[in-house]
Amino acid sequence: MQLKDKVIVVTGGGSGIGAAMARRFAQESTKAIVVADLNLANAEAVAAEVGGVARKVNVASEAEIKALIEATEKEQGPIDLFCSNAGIGLGRGLETSNEDWDTILGVNVMAHVYAARHLVPKMVARGGGYLLNTASAAGLLSQIGSVTYAVTKHAAVSLAEWISITHGNEGIRVSVLCPQAVDTPMIAGTDAGGVAGVDGIMSPEAVADVVVAGLAEEKFLILPHPSVREYIQRKAGDYDRWLGGMRKLQARYGQKAV
Ligand SMILES: NC(=O)c1ccc[n+]([C@@H]2O[C@H](COP(=O)([O-])OP(=O)(O)OC[C@H]3O[C@@H](n4cnc5c(N)ncnc54)[C@H](O)[C@@H]3O)[C@@H](O)[C@H]2O)c1
Repeated sequence: MQLKDKVIVVTGGGSGIGAAMARRFAQESTKAIVVADLNLANAEAVAAEVGGVARKVNVASEAEIKALIEATEKEQGPIDLFCSNAGIGLGRGLETSNEDWDTILGVNVMAHVYAARHLVPKMVARGGGYLLNTASAAGLLSQIGSVTYAVTKHAAVSLAEWISITHGNEGIRVSVLCPQAVDTPMIAGTDAGGVAGVDGIMSPEAVADVVVAGLAEEKFLILPHPSVREYIQRKAGDYDRWLGGMRKLQARYGQKAV
């Protein structure tokens, strides 16, 4: 997809990867960029920079996602590209509470379901549209130290696959963004990005460049860190050997990971 004259929504657009995508998209002569975030002040700051519109949204609320889509379509026009990007890290091991599971499932998984539920029928009716869902390399591999992050990001990848399979023939294009460590507030408390930083920490601006290239090629998997492709091939090629390698990483990073 070329972004010229497109109406684009970016959730989690007030910070990190979402803010960098909004800034990068703005260089492509888009029609409108809606910067949506739980943190309205941050969304407003980014929207002001890119000449866009800020909207407050809690992506874990279906009613708020629906309202975001409806307000955007009414005021900016039909959404061409919806970037469901907001995400959180929460929880570590099996002791993680059910409340924390519910919270992270709401943001990292159900937000993508709500966006698709309310947008896909509209997009199909007008001949197509594009969903870009931010998952993580953890959604293809795993996340040492956080079962909640590993599981919810896998679910996000699985959902994106399913939408592509089920609605691809109706003009719905789907990409899933799966970076390793990116220099954003999300990894601020970690030591060099933790285990996700083994291949280096990318800037959000560099990730946004890879996203624009991936959207232009309409690639399902957008992998800013090229080594991730090799890791998933190794995983598929010999699962037990891959698990052995991951246990070595667990032994090395174990308790301080995430
Ligand atoms: N930073 C990394 O290393 C990394 C790596 C892989 C994947 N990711 C994923 O990238 C995405 C963006 O993360 P980031 O690194 O830019 O983090 P970030 O913390 O800088 O930005 C996340 C944004 O999402 C917003 N947000 C959080 N919960 C929300 C909610 N319920 N409703 C609306 N907005 C909400 C926050 O206010 C924030 O502005 C996430 O899905 C994250 O899991 C990040």
